[in-house]
Amino acid sequence: MLRRPRRNRKTEGIRSLTRQTQVTTDDLVFPLFLIEGYNKKQEVASMPGIYRLSSDLILREIEYCMGLGIKSFDVFPVVSDKDKNQEASEGYREDSFYLRALKEIKARLPESHIITDIAMDPYSSDGHDGLVKEGIVLNDATLEILGKMALAQAATGIDMIGPSDMMDGRVGYLRELLDQQGFQEVGIMSYTAKYASAFYGPFRDALDSAPKFGDKKTYQMDPANRAEALMEAQLDYEEGADVLMVKPALAYLDIISDLKENFPLPIAAYNVSGEYAMVKASAQNGWLDGERAMQESLTAIKRAGADIILTYFAKEFAEGRRR
Ligand code: PBG
Repeated sequence: MLRRPRRNRKTEGIRSLTRQTQVTTDDLVFPLFLIEGYNKKQEVASMPGIYRLSSDLILREIEYCMGLGIKSFDVFPVVSDKDKNQEASEGYREDSFYLRALKEIKARLPESHIITDIAMDPYSSDGHDGLVKEGIVLNDATLEILGKMALAQAATGIDMIGPSDMMDGRVGYLRELLDQQGFQEVGIMSYTAKYASAFYGPFRDALDSAPKFGDKKTYQMDPANRAEALMEAQLDYEEGADVLMVKPALAYLDIISDLKENFPLPIAAYNVSGEYAMVKASAQNGWLDGERAMQESLTAIKRAGADIILTYFAKEFAEGRRR
């Protein structure tokens, strides 16, 4: 045998020299859940270690994570039922707790890279990502609402918006609107290939945002489809997206790889709530080594081609680096 692949696995010395993929805190975005109020901290039952935080505590959390080397954060609002309506108007009300918190974060921690969420579902009494009329989720009417949300968010000084709703034409619509209003510097991380997935369950618990009827299959993609992701990516590319995202991550590594190979933009992958919950739940049961499962998951997502990983593990990963 002239070829003995095991020679390169013999010691940690040779393994580290030949290791092709290295995840660092530079790659990570930490998603955060914001609630209204002061000094409030509620653990999300289905996401051990992840909390809904009020703005004062979110500020501290961001500052702490920045000390660990994490620079990017994606902030999601938890809106109470009384503020939800069909038009999701709390999403662009100037004095909403979400917009106030974003302004405060950028004022106090200007070095943080803040990504916002653009979608109706956190604010919608229907629990859908679009305007609902007679049971149908409308596309073009939704764009106007997303536009109002984008302008209100951009005005807070945030760095990047994350349209997460999968309406057709939203990236181009939002890009043009932002440019017209002088927000050329605000980036767009598009949820390009977002699948209708069971792995969003714990997130919908966190936000209390599950659809009140039906499901999201008329706008989120069918998990069975691959070519369609390339079409979505082509559209987002042409419409001016700065980053293309695949979501979820682990069951969609082929899609991450397809996008990476075919587009010159940075590719992001969202290691979603259900993927986090699975690892946490089995680790708590002693069924697997949670730390190693986390490392392996993040490495696999990067190896597949993701330049950016949104993950609830971000803080834990960074703390592990420091130990
Ligand atoms: C909705 C949205 C979802 C997530 C982010 N934005 C869920 C959904 O489509 O219902 C999921 C994130 C996660 O599961 O971690 N706009």
